[in-house]
Amino acid sequence: MAETDIRAKMRSNEEIVGRVDLDDPEAILSVTTLDETDVVHIVKDNADTIFTWNYDKGERTALDKLYEKAKTSQWNGQTDLPWELDVDVEKSVRGQNAAINPGATDLLPPFDVSHTALANWGDKEYLELGIEMQNHLLSQFMHGEQGALVCTAKIVETVPWIDAKYYAATQVVDEARHVEVFAKYLDEKLTGHYPINAHLRMLLDDIIDDSRWDMTYLGMQIMVEGLALAAFGLMYQTTPEPLLKKLLRYVMSDEARHVAFGVLTLQEYYQELSTSEIRERQEFAFEAAVRMRDRFLQQEVWQRMDVDMRPLIPIIRQDPGRILFQQLLFSKIVPNCKKLGLLDAGVPEGQKGWLRERFEEMDVIQFEDLVDTGEEYESLDAVAQDRSAED
Ligand SMILES: [Fe+2]
Ligand SMILES: [Fe+2]
Repeated sequence: MAETDIRAKMRSNEEIVGRVDLDDPEAILSVTTLDETDVVHIVKDNADTIFTWNYDKGERTALDKLYEKAKTSQWNGQTDLPWELDVDVEKSVRGQNAAINPGATDLLPPFDVSHTALANWGDKEYLELGIEMQNHLLSQFMHGEQGALVCTAKIVETVPWIDAKYYAATQVVDEARHVEVFAKYLDEKLTGHYPINAHLRMLLDDIIDDSRWDMTYLGMQIMVEGLALAAFGLMYQTTPEPLLKKLLRYVMSDEARHVAFGVLTLQEYYQELSTSEIRERQEFAFEAAVRMRDRFLQQEVWQRMDVDMRPLIPIIRQDPGRILFQQLLFSKIVPNCKKLGLLDAGVPEGQKGWLRERFEEMDVIQFEDLVDTGEEYESLDAVAQDRSAED
């Protein structure tokens, strides 16, 4: 298919994410959480379950190595983390704030809120906000982990290769452990749960509902887990809280393998796809990136604090620290998309690719040449590191 034909077939931002302006606050806030009293959420899975009678592992040595690594790097969320430690939530919030805003001596924001609903807020209110934001963030980590658990179980059923089914089975165990440790941390150490964020739920629904097996990998292993790996890394670096630090280090150790699983599998599978099929993958990656960015507003927290956040959005968005932090969350996704060829696929050499343009629009293209996650899991293997330190 000629390039001009493909461009004509491309869907617009509005068709992909439901709005023309990616930053439109009204459109972002109009997507709200489901009824908080519902315990069960049902999504129709449209994919075929595939058996394979070919039990040869074949030539996938990198995938086999990853599988062997997964078997020896298991840990127990109940016994390998220091749950006996008391968590001082206030100290945790203050310590993290100081790490994110160097030089800050209090929790007051580094921007002018004098003409907003926060004009009369003092330390007490900002502390409450910080605690709620932590409850919200850890709740989203937990819900995202359940998304990974379900998506990876789906991969066991739908991927046609036996060696990928083997690997995915180990990831299912990893994800169960992650849901378990985040739920335990929320229950025993923090002060409240939040339901799943509306934008994260939309994305998980889209991933499960898709009939194409490789889309689960792109949505989960590349996009959701790529963002999670960066988010866990940032929190690991900024939290002073020792239990959470160790929990995150152990979870990241597994997540790096999961992202590598996505990169290895899709690198091979994308070789078989046509230009127009790759275009659909580019659009899906973009849609996922926007949904995840929409979540950063943490709208449910402001709702619980009874603050209309609409007038605040333009002010918050000017905060340079926040801008940098949010860009860094894409520091794994962009190089991995580049390694998969998604940034520039479909255009002649020297021309700017469609996903590259979208990532420019989102101001995250600067990470394209950072290390991709295909090999990074070796250096993040916390279990192996701690074992050799004990010897
Ligand atoms: Fe996980
Ligand atoms: Fe994972």
